[in-house]
Amino acid sequence: MLKDKVVVVTGAGGGIGRDFALAFASYGAKVVVNDIGASVSGEGKDAGPAQKVVDEIQASGGTAVANTDSVAEWEAANRIVKTAIDTFGRIDVVVNNAGILRDRFFFNMSVEEWKAVIDVHLNGSFYVARAAAPYFKSQAAGRYINMTSTSGLVGNFGQANYSAAKLGIAALSKSMALDMAKYNVTSNCISPFAWSRMIGSIPTETDDQKARVEKLKSMQTAKIAPLAVYLASDAAQHVTGQIFAVRANEIFLRSQSRPLRSVHRAEGWTPESIAEHAIPAMKAHFYALDRSQDVFSWDPL
Ligand code: NAI
Repeated sequence: MLKDKVVVVTGAGGGIGRDFALAFASYGAKVVVNDIGASVSGEGKDAGPAQKVVDEIQASGGTAVANTDSVAEWEAANRIVKTAIDTFGRIDVVVNNAGILRDRFFFNMSVEEWKAVIDVHLNGSFYVARAAAPYFKSQAAGRYINMTSTSGLVGNFGQANYSAAKLGIAALSKSMALDMAKYNVTSNCISPFAWSRMIGSIPTETDDQKARVEKLKSMQTAKIAPLAVYLASDAAQHVTGQIFAVRANEIFLRSQSRPLRSVHRAEGWTPESIAEHAIPAMKAHFYALDRSQDVFSWDPL
């Protein structure tokens, strides 16, 4: 399905990205395995994880090259794309998957924690996608696959930085789909649920938290890869601007924000008439202050 396509997967040294890289290679793609080899919080650097995935791909007869640049800086992001051009002569697919967590309740979150997460997720996705854009434009073909999260699409405690970045990525992906449509370039989001070291970093103090994490362990990272391979393929030319979610054997098409209910008053509104009329009319449609786990309240299938 991907014979000779050149795919860049960021953050592919472990977790979901590693399974993406292995799956892309098994479907015939030449893969740039990018990973700085950082800790979950984004600290440190290690060339090992990216090279290890390259070794695995090569051992099973596939083609891959490692890159250890950070997605979070513009020049470095350009080097990731340049690795694809220099090694394989082209670039067909960008998978914006690299990520870190710096969880903290909003009222305690530092500016540094905010910026670090925005830099890797939101800025990093823009930088790598933008670096590939001239190639996609000139060849009138290309695929963007961007990782979002229900932490942003729905909500979660203690993740203001991550939620804002991940919902920002959904908007970035839609914008790329709109702006690049005339060049046959597609852009879609995947919101995964999978047991990785990132999810393993969720604190489990209460029995309720422990039970929830046990369920999460049944969601394998490899289950996300088939959708990514499909979205990267020529078969998905008509699929763009969408947000999918994958959780073990379930695939979801996610809703996108549209007007839900409107009220109108010919003479216009005052704060008082909003209180008396507009809010009561719309209140039945308010969204609960819920989190991802409230919306996905049943066990993974
Ligand atoms: P992971 O922590 O196993 O993988 C993330 C990888 O990104 C790591 O190998 C890390 O070294 C790399 N990385 C971090 N900063 C980087 C940088 N500046 N440049 C290049 N690489 C960098 O996490 P996981 O779970 O595999 O996450 C993959 C993606 O899926 C992330 O974007 C995450 O936000 C998203 N996601 C994952 C969910 C899950 O259930 N595991 C849920 C929702 C979203």
